[in-house]
Amino acid sequence: MEPELHPDLEPLKFLIGEWEGAGVGGYPTIESFRFGQEISFTHNGKPFLIYTSRTWRLDDEGHLGAPLGMEAGFWRPKPGGRLEVILAHPTGIAEIYLGEITGTRVELSTDVVARTETAKEVTAGHRLYGMIGEDLGYAFDLAAVGQRLQSHLSAQLKRVS
Ligand code: HEM
Repeated sequence: MEPELHPDLEPLKFLIGEWEGAGVGGYPTIESFRFGQEISFTHNGKPFLIYTSRTWRLDDEGHLGAPLGMEAGFWRPKPGGRLEVILAHPTGIAEIYLGEITGTRVELSTDVVARTETAKEVTAGHRLYGMIGEDLGYAFDLAAVGQRLQSHLSAQLKRVS
């Protein structure tokens, strides 16, 4: 049974569904790369979105290859357009973001990044999500391994359901 949308989720309704697309990544310390991505935003009637993202390497012919990063978490809208996001990564990192929803644009900055003993040194993140026509686009800036906050990923995805 389709749960009824919690009224608090109204500002994030435009995200709900399944998205597929492609992006580019890089960082001063690594080779740049292309990736394919699937993002899912669902809800269960409670006042948060359930978020998952999976990515794969994308070769020059546009074929998906080995899995790359994935992440999962919860998007918690709050009064006044504020938003809290909690994300977990299989690389031993957990990010807590605070930010704002403005129309169909979401801007998030990390409040806290926690790492396991063996995780890479990630210290901050900044994310901008927004609708580009019918598509969902985002840009992710990362501060890690001694480098200042700068671009790690950007992608554009189409709604598939
Ligand atoms: C979800 C999509 C993502 C993709 C496709 C992706 C892809 C990559 C790739 C291909 C590399 C280089 C090879 C490797 O070390 O595996 C890399 C390195 C790295 N990524 Fe990501 N990444 C993603 C998300 C993230 C997130 C969310 C963070 C931080 C919270 C992050 C932090 C890093 C760090 C710290 C490195 C290592 C840089 C270094 O050691 O020089 N990545 N990423």
